[in-house]
Amino acid sequence: MKALHLMNHNLFRAIALAPVLSVVMGSLSGCNKGQASNPSQGAGGLTSTKGAAPSDVKIGFVVKQPDEPWFQNEWAFADKAAQKYHFTLVKIGAVDGDKAISAVDNLAAQGAQGFVICTPDVHLGPAIVAKAQAQNLKVFSVDDRFLGADGKPMDVPYMGISAREIGHGVGAALLAEMKKRGWKTSEVGACAMTFEELDTARERTDGAIEALTKGGFPASQIYKGAQKTSDTPGGFDAANIVLTQHGDVKKWLVFGMNDEAVLGAVRAMEGAGLSADDVIGVGIGGSTGVTDFKKAKLTGFFGTMLISPRRHGFETSEMLYKWIAQGQEPPKATFTTGELITRTNYKEKMKAEGLD
Ligand code: GLA
Repeated sequence: MKALHLMNHNLFRAIALAPVLSVVMGSLSGCNKGQASNPSQGAGGLTSTKGAAPSDVKIGFVVKQPDEPWFQNEWAFADKAAQKYHFTLVKIGAVDGDKAISAVDNLAAQGAQGFVICTPDVHLGPAIVAKAQAQNLKVFSVDDRFLGADGKPMDVPYMGISAREIGHGVGAALLAEMKKRGWKTSEVGACAMTFEELDTARERTDGAIEALTKGGFPASQIYKGAQKTSDTPGGFDAANIVLTQHGDVKKWLVFGMNDEAVLGAVRAMEGAGLSADDVIGVGIGGSTGVTDFKKAKLTGFFGTMLISPRRHGFETSEMLYKWIAQGQEPPKATFTTGELITRTNYKEKMKAEGLD
């Protein structure tokens, strides 16, 4: 099975990930429903929503991965803030540094007064802030925190997840499920999909490792696979390398920075002949991974820490609006929490977050 799997790797990659990609495309086209103006120009393009009554305030919302449901959800909640406060929201996908920098110019040219941004590269912080200041735009960073030239977080308002604590939750959930299943620790490996160049990602996986080892799981049985990209194909490829190196492991715990990382790894494990009985995957997000909860057949995607695109989309835009319109300065840093959801409770928990 393994040889076959390796031989057909690219073919399998395309087939295994096809449903994930089609869900992503579905959420892309669905997101723009009900917008009042300017139809979508596609993932890398620019869309805007105008509030119901005229207002002079125009706010940008720039995201690094516009095709990821997490960011689609942030945009959807930012739209709600635009409707509530009657400002115009301009949504821009910026998948690389050039696009992020030109997004700032674009917003300034349109007369925007500020923007929320999840940057494609945290090292762009100083360049983005300098450009924004020169054009008199206020900046609010979300998800991925800007780093200054000194490598330290920049003094720019920020909302992110409490990465390490949420990672602890992942580790605890993995251990609890492993115990429930009565797995023998000696036959279990932990597959850590890492993206360590990004602080919030490293904190998440370090937190999970911390909880696992504190709970008695041997550090020597935790195998890291570095992702080249922080998406599902990135998790898929990284997991295949771990699987090739540790073909003797019979049962797997899987974790990573987000749902995509874990889902990619779970698909890779399915390709290696491992089923829901052999794999316990816990993601972070409550977005892409939820598609597995909806499948009739159980998969290795056991659970995920539900985080809040409502807070990251609505509240960031609301705080920026109040800063622009009322001079109310936002807090420097806001850290949001996460809660484990599984097949059994995801519907009610997501509904409570406004995610139907
Ligand atoms: C990063 C990840 C996203 C999501 C957010 C949450 O930006 O790439 O998938 O997890 O953090 O803050």
